[in-house]
Amino acid sequence: MRRVGAALAMTVAVGLAACGKHEFEPPDRAEQVVEADREFSMALFDSIAWPSDSIRALEGNVVFSTSCRNCHGPLGEGGTDYALERNLQVPSLVTAGWRYAEAPDSIRHRIFVGHVRGMPTWGVAGLTPREIDAVAHYIGAVLRPDVLGDGG
Ligand code: HEC
Repeated sequence: MRRVGAALAMTVAVGLAACGKHEFEPPDRAEQVVEADREFSMALFDSIAWPSDSIRALEGNVVFSTSCRNCHGPLGEGGTDYALERNLQVPSLVTAGWRYAEAPDSIRHRIFVGHVRGMPTWGVAGLTPREIDAVAHYIGAVLRPDVLGDGG
């Protein structure tokens, strides 16, 4: 009985591996990032208009809470338990002198394209340019001043 069970388990495992190869293999992460980089264009954001910056920030708050907070932390500080459990090195978005601090276009690019080291490719995986614009604004206008003070 034991041996039959083991043989069955083997068959199932081999079957799953085979399926994985032929039908369910996710697109290679590096390829996905390169492809998204090709698709990215600043023109995607040209027609986005907001009634006010506070509405833009509110929308960004919703996006951040839903799609970013698990990994980046409620204040954008990074290094959450969620990320550590998945072996992801998630950087803080709110350090002084952050390389993207004065570069909102680069933040949008980064969110759209993602990164092979675990940052999802949001431009093709779930967020519209409008949502990316909102969350990029939220990082720069709400999270960073909140942590660093307005002079930061
Ligand atoms: C599954 C975990 C995860 C989620 C969810 C996630 N990120 Fe990231 N993020 C990462 C990792 C890991 C990196 C670092 C990649 C690297 O090494 O460059 C990163 C990097 C970044 C960077 C570049 C930071 C820097 O200093 O280089 C930005 C900006 C960013 N994320 C914004 C966001 C936003 C906005 C969201 C939500 C829309 C989000 N991330 C969701 C894991 C995540």
